[in-house]
Amino acid sequence: MLTGAQHLQNIHPLVVHFPIGLLVGAAFFYFMAWAFKKEDLAKTGFWVLLLGALSLAVAVGTGLYAEQGVMVALDVRQKLLLPHKQLMIATAVICFITTLWAILARPFPKKGRVIFIILLLAMVGAMTIGADFGGRLVYDYNAGGNACPQPIHLKEELK
Ligand code: HEM
Repeated sequence: MLTGAQHLQNIHPLVVHFPIGLLVGAAFFYFMAWAFKKEDLAKTGFWVLLLGALSLAVAVGTGLYAEQGVMVALDVRQKLLLPHKQLMIATAVICFITTLWAILARPFPKKGRVIFIILLLAMVGAMTIGADFGGRLVYDYNAGGNACPQPIHLKEELK
């Protein structure tokens, strides 16, 4: 295994950037398709949304697993981990609705298009705020478990 990956407590941080990138991309393509009336862009948005939904399912699964093992105090769990989890579950619910809707009315629903776009933007909003809570868990509270204290020196194994 790669050295950096060996230092992880769990694989959640390895997978989370895929849904973040893909779902922002899907919302972007659908938004552009709607704003500029270019149906071709919606086809790209459709496939990026499908990939985003798949990677989101993996991120939710690994997140629920990470939640069991992470060693942070109860108040940190309450103030940061809980809102992170809730916002990501909200993201997953909106993603499930929009993905199913896009599959049934492939690639871009004709009825209720504005609502579809608003849902995608709400999904990206919830995910962005939720990811910020996740980042704070890692960078403010060392939830990943292996950050070294400053000043930072090269580890003996690399000298
Ligand atoms: C819904 C269930 C989820 C739970 C219970 C959860 C839990 C956690 C935990 C415990 C951490 C701290 C780091 C670790 O131990 O891995 C974390 C970090 C993080 N999570 Fe989640 N997570 C969930 C879903 C998601 C999803 C769906 C995303 C992305 C769309 C996400 C994005 C992040 C990010 C960006 C970090 C910071 C990682 C880093 O900066 O390296 N999480 N999460």
